[in-house]
Amino acid sequence: MSSNSPKFNLRRITRRSAIGLAGIGVPSAIWAAKIEPDLLSVTRKDLTLPRWPKSLDGFRIAQITDVHYRPGLDDELIVKLREAVKAESPDLIMVTGDFVINDPSSLSEFAKAFNGISATHGVFASPGNHDRWHCNVSNIKKEIEGIGMSYLHNAGTNINIKGENIFINGLDSVWGGHPAPNLAWNGHRKDTPVVSLVHEPDFFDNLRSAKPLDLQLSGHTHGGQCRVPLIGYAPAKVKFGRNYIYGHFEKDRSQLFVGRGIGTVGLRVRFACRPELVILTLRSA
Ligand SMILES: [Fe+2]
Repeated sequence: MSSNSPKFNLRRITRRSAIGLAGIGVPSAIWAAKIEPDLLSVTRKDLTLPRWPKSLDGFRIAQITDVHYRPGLDDELIVKLREAVKAESPDLIMVTGDFVINDPSSLSEFAKAFNGISATHGVFASPGNHDRWHCNVSNIKKEIEGIGMSYLHNAGTNINIKGENIFINGLDSVWGGHPAPNLAWNGHRKDTPVVSLVHEPDFFDNLRSAKPLDLQLSGHTHGGQCRVPLIGYAPAKVKFGRNYIYGHFEKDRSQLFVGRGIGTVGLRVRFACRPELVILTLRSA
């Protein structure tokens, strides 16, 4: 076969393409596995809530979600996160579930790693599907409350700030548990703005049509975790996280923010989707 035959040229082109792809692919794989999972980012966003009190304009919430703590691997990342939270000095911290991946013993390691994290008006947490699949509820409550966080499991609470009432509630995981909005809204007084912690973002459509909901904070999707250039978010979308994958959404009088999260599931890789601390500044209309 001559070197000018079509078959030879095809082979040469294929080999060159493979070398070229490997040239792009190998550095990308190293980046995704070794660098990006530890590259914490801080996303700051203003949200105007029509019912938010004027005297609380500028109130700042830090959202932490999907830590999926891997003791020994995530320690440096958690140190960065704690430093970032401290530097932001938020009014409130909301932790929207998935503290663990699949090892129930890592729940106490999570608690140790987050012990002492604080905000002016408290830290609130609700469970994710992984927590509910692998840990029992009483143990989650014990570990979370043991480090001074308020655990909201189909429950809500009124907090009074500068004479204004805010209602904060948290639901059980949609996928891993039994969300009960009626229990979560128990104690809510009409006209009090509601901020809800709900691990799975797609439940937004159920809640906003059934309950007074000003802002829902969610995670679950990891923003896709690995975003494929030219295609976008992760090719395999997760159950209850198909409609709202990342960012801010507004429908009727309700708003939703979905964070990319801190940790990972499966391989410890992230690509074009850095771990994220979310800082939301709430504005009155
Ligand atoms: Fe998660």
